Amino acid sequence: MTHFDFEIKSRQFFDSFLMFYSGWNKGQISRVEIKKRHSERVAELSGLIAASLHLDREEVALARSIGLLHDIGRFPQLIKYNTFDDSVSEDHSKMALEELERVGLLQGLTPETAAIVHGAIFHHNKEEIPSELTAEEQLFCRIVRDADKLDILQSLTDYYANPSDPADHTLSWKIQGGRGISESVVTAAKSGKTVRKEYVRTGDDVKVMQLSWVYDLNFKASFRILASEQYVDKIYRALPKRDDVFDIYRVARIYLENKFLN
Ligand SMILES: [Fe+2]
Repeated sequence: MTHFDFEIKSRQFFDSFLMFYSGWNKGQISRVEIKKRHSERVAELSGLIAASLHLDREEVALARSIGLLHDIGRFPQLIKYNTFDDSVSEDHSKMALEELERVGLLQGLTPETAAIVHGAIFHHNKEEIPSELTAEEQLFCRIVRDADKLDILQSLTDYYANPSDPADHTLSWKIQGGRGISESVVTAAKSGKTVRKEYVRTGDDVKVMQLSWVYDLNFKASFRILASEQYVDKIYRALPKRDDVFDIYRVARIYLENKFLN
């Protein structure tokens, strides 16, 4: 099976999953729609990033397919647990792989390509990409991780700018509430590190964590999108005006400027 055929097969599977399952309740339909649109945009962004790296057309098609499928586990997760919160259900990337296995979607791919799809989907939501993955597996994993983050930044910054609009996002874990920024979040972001999810306690922590994703982007094309969409500035504007917030912002800006100079 060529990567083009795999893309067609992936698209048919994706559409049919949503078309033939009719058990969504009222509250779930909008959440399904949000994840559907997210997956489609991540597919497109993955293709853009892959093309910017001068990968060949088959590889670009593979990147798009991975983008489309990366969150496919969200749908069985919603059916089975009625939540997108992995911590109270299951890892949605593991559920995605089970789903692909169930329908035999990777059959017909070479073992190397199947391992790329597997690795990229399984590690799209993990803190780090394990070094045991092959260079190719790591490459496609980085592409989908960048695309995923860029799309989440898009929908969340829209929401921060217009909080009264219906939110086109679903935060996948529960925020404990309360304002302010946790000390461990400030420390990580100020030292130019990605804020770990387990440090996040408040809504402002979420914003700082998202700002700190700049340190976990991999490709020039991703930085270009980040800069042209002004995601860092938009998040900064949604945060309280405090000295440590300004420091966090300044460190991120300097990091980004260096990415463009080098
Ligand atoms: Fe995901």
